[in-house]
Amino acid sequence: MSYENIIVDQPAPGVGRVRLNRPRALNALNSALMDEVMAAMAGFDADSEIGAMILTGDDKAFAAGADIKEMDGKSQIDMLMSRSLVDRFDIESISKPIIAAVSGYALGGGCEVAMSCDMIVASETAVFGQPEINLGIIPGAGGTQRLTRAVGKALAMEIMLTDRKLSAQEALDCGLVNRVAPLDEYMDLAIDISQKAARRSQVAIRLTKEAINKAYETSLSEGLALERRNFLIAFGSEDKAEGMRAFIEKRRAEWKNR
Ligand code: CAA
Repeated sequence: MSYENIIVDQPAPGVGRVRLNRPRALNALNSALMDEVMAAMAGFDADSEIGAMILTGDDKAFAAGADIKEMDGKSQIDMLMSRSLVDRFDIESISKPIIAAVSGYALGGGCEVAMSCDMIVASETAVFGQPEINLGIIPGAGGTQRLTRAVGKALAMEIMLTDRKLSAQEALDCGLVNRVAPLDEYMDLAIDISQKAARRSQVAIRLTKEAINKAYETSLSEGLALERRNFLIAFGSEDKAEGMRAFIEKRRAEWKNR
């Protein structure tokens, strides 16, 4: 499939990569780009050769937000009655692990897309923020919820009410990102982490991701019940038999993803 707003490749075995490619607009997220991102990710999700994905931009910008020029002409009813831009931000529908590799600006919808991924690897130049307040709007793709859960109420208030930006180091210190690396190393680090997930049983990875995500949305007892259910599902897999046998026989497991 050919794309106009993204570049898709496989930088390492088992790893699919989607690169946002609107550099002149600092990778601002418009409808066409988001449709392409979701189509490419759904393709990787359905590809048994792919075990994990990277979503990235370029050195200057991961993404500087939802496309303000596209939103400028839209009315409230336009947004309500059509499949609007923010409705296309559907990263959580992807079941395989996704690592956001962030360099430069990750603002507004860009920060929200990064937070929708499962892990964030940042370059030392990354800048995170939710500047929607400057436009007379509020975050519309999860910012008030995901950022608050990630960094806590006090800092989330400062970021979203006053346009406080976070450096990569600050984002690391407050738990928003997993790792920070120099600009010329962050992509290799993202690929390395992706490969570590991609090499595991896709059955166990999928069940684990689902259970961790549930921790944000439910009570402890309901979360523990889902974990127990997924633990039992894993026990029915061929990969469970192979993983335990490989340990006992002191060899590397050969996953069937069944
Ligand atoms: N939408 C559309 N175009 C954008 C854009 C955006 N979010 N961000 C940058 N651009 C465009 C600029 O219009 C400019 O294009 P032209 O050359 O055609 O004018 C080009 O990208 C380069 O931008 P700048 O000249 O502004 O670059 P800079 O280095 O001086 O500044 C910046 C960089 C601080 C990131 C600045 O571009 C900026 O503030 N961008 C907007 C950030 C923002 O408000 N994001 C939130 C959007 S709303 C949202 O995301 C809602 C939601 O929750 C879903």
